[in-house]
Amino acid sequence: MTNIGSYDERVKNFSWSIAEKELDYKDGDILNIGWYCSDRICNMGKAGKTAMIWEGLGGKEKQYTFNDVRLHSNTIGHFLRSLGINNSDRVCLFMDKLPELYLGVLGILKIGAVAQPLFSAFGDESLFVRLENAGTKAIITQKKHAGKVQKILDRLPNLEHIIIVDYDGKKPLREKEIAFSLEDSKPVEKLDIYPTKAESHSLLHYTSGTTGQPKGVKHVHYSLISQYLTTKWVLDLQEDDIYWCTADPGWVTGTSYGIFGPWSLGVTICVLDTGFSADSWYQFMEKNKVSMWYSAPTAIRSLMKAGDEAVKKYDLSALRHLASVGEPLNAEAVIWSGKVFGKPFLDTYWQTETGSMMLTNFPGMKIKPGSMGKAFPGITAVILDPETFEPITSPNKPGLIAFQPGWPAMMRTYWNNDETYQTKFKNGWYLAGDRSTIDQDGYFWFIGRDDDVINTGGHLISPFEVESALLEHEAVAESAVVAKPDEVNMEVVKAFVTLNPGFQASDVLELKIMNFIRKKLSPLAMPQEIEYLDKLPKTRSGKIMRRLLHAQEWGEEIGDTSTLEDD
Ligand code: WT7
Repeated sequence: MTNIGSYDERVKNFSWSIAEKELDYKDGDILNIGWYCSDRICNMGKAGKTAMIWEGLGGKEKQYTFNDVRLHSNTIGHFLRSLGINNSDRVCLFMDKLPELYLGVLGILKIGAVAQPLFSAFGDESLFVRLENAGTKAIITQKKHAGKVQKILDRLPNLEHIIIVDYDGKKPLREKEIAFSLEDSKPVEKLDIYPTKAESHSLLHYTSGTTGQPKGVKHVHYSLISQYLTTKWVLDLQEDDIYWCTADPGWVTGTSYGIFGPWSLGVTICVLDTGFSADSWYQFMEKNKVSMWYSAPTAIRSLMKAGDEAVKKYDLSALRHLASVGEPLNAEAVIWSGKVFGKPFLDTYWQTETGSMMLTNFPGMKIKPGSMGKAFPGITAVILDPETFEPITSPNKPGLIAFQPGWPAMMRTYWNNDETYQTKFKNGWYLAGDRSTIDQDGYFWFIGRDDDVINTGGHLISPFEVESALLEHEAVAESAVVAKPDEVNMEVVKAFVTLNPGFQASDVLELKIMNFIRKKLSPLAMPQEIEYLDKLPKTRSGKIMRRLLHAQEWGEEIGDTSTLEDD
């Protein structure tokens, strides 16, 4: 029996109060995600149950019970308070998938502060714009990433503390650095948990748009209501499951479904903090008897490339349910997974902004490979006409994906940028920024994004951010960045540049520029190819026509070029 039971019945009788009741929450009560994911589970008699199985480089392993999670998050919360961190202060987590990341998120939330997780592969410039925008007061990091923080420290007047979780005393601590060792700290048995309410700010996740700097998506503690119920009904977590969410908590999947969903249900998670390889993933799943696996299309396509034989070497018989998110999951990947794992990956669609799943396939439903499935119960999802913003009622006609606002996990605004937030609504609908069709059975079929944002392996990259960073390279005069097709990642970053006088186009220069972006922004944002042009295509008003370059990369019709400079 699945948790969701009958989808149609759930839709008919739906109310978010189902989740509120199961979580013993009533309107106006204190609601703190940190408490819900640890103390409450202990109070329910599961203090000794394994909460996290962690594996790092070289096969190093650690295990934590729910009581350990409760104590360690208390200890981190207490330590932050002792540094003068108060409720509503932003605390960034900038580290690999260490246990301290998972426990730290809860510790920050327990004192009512705002957790700002950032992907540890970010370079100093990516880090800087996000810390500056958030006015971050403290950053929790590790030795190997602290240098990037030092580099930008003098431009961050609000940053008071750099907390190093793996300090070994080999080098003296630098400005604003302070060492904190979870293992050496005395566990804090009782912490005064800050009485956050439903609308108290919980998380800031940064996401990239087409223009401007990345936006801080503001989430609140009430998001747990959505995260709990979608985890229960779509991921179908059961008491004895061993659940593996492969996403990094630097991104929203890694918090909503890597931490909050499973832990609010008292389910064991596992974490693998090493790079990707098919063998290491299968081995990890075999060893830990992973039964529920939530991953992403790029990883699935990479596994597909590694071949069926690689799967057969391992005993993955514990696996009973698989789901995917982040980018289009092609029909071939769904069919392949059904063949080799005995069950297909179920696609789910949502965004940093939505905080929880919106369109989903769920256990028991008829799967149409290549479709994102149907709206989660309680979610009103439509396709809007791009001209009138009225819902399209006839099937299979492309339009804009839109949702009726008001589900618990929806973002509350963009941090310090309510203006942009307001532009996401038309006729009372929230516009997701994607295009899709709906078929006669109510299944959504993804078409593409409605903007220039590049989705590489499930990570959104702003062409604007890469173009700006390229201009900081001494050789680059002008730049234009678009997606180019890629077999595994679907899209990768490609840059077109014109060079400053005195610079010669060459392969060496291409590598230098690529490396420059990798360090400044991240390996994800690094162009996989740089093409030198004498001149970039521009409109008469001087705007670079990315559309043209994009069409060229994808072999598409170029369309209307009547505003082109040279016409
Ligand atoms: C964008 C959101 C929250 C998950 C991690 C990504 C694309 C997401 C799917 C899917 C096709 C998808 C959309 C969306 N996307 N899921 N199942 N099929 N595209 O969160 O970084 O905010 O990205 O990812 O374009 O708008 P994100």
